[in-house]
Amino acid sequence: MKRLVLFILLPAFAACGGKKEETPSTAPVSMVEEKPAVEGAKVFKISCAVCHGPDGKLGLNGSKDLSVSILTLEERIALITKGKGVMPAQENILSAEEIKAAAEYSLTLKK
Ligand code: HEC
Repeated sequence: MKRLVLFILLPAFAACGGKKEETPSTAPVSMVEEKPAVEGAKVFKISCAVCHGPDGKLGLNGSKDLSVSILTLEERIALITKGKGVMPAQENILSAEEIKAAAEYSLTLKK
């Protein structure tokens, strides 16, 4: 009688072994932050570094050293938009978003 029970159960165990291995649905994807400072760094390099230098300290054509500037973000946005003295207004060159990004980036140059 015992042997008969085993014969009945064995096929059941065998069936379990035939299960397909599940492929992980959430494979780890390497997420690399490519532009943490939005486009501010890029805008600054293209539109501002000519006079201010990549670190803001160049001071070409009497441009202010941005690493010591005490202007707030709002004041910077206004100045960049409208220009001041030798500094050309950027309102027809950059979008409001780009001006804000560049202004934010200029704040990161502060010591
Ligand atoms: C043609 C050269 C030139 C370019 C290009 C230029 N600047 Fe200027 N920037 C100046 C000059 C000159 C001043 C000083 C203006 C003054 O006070 O008379 C100045 C002043 C500033 C100030 C004020 C600093 C302070 O404390 O008074 C900020 C902020 C500034 N620039 C940011 C920028 C940013 C951001 C860009 C790019 C969007 C930019 N500048 C592009 C020449 C330039």
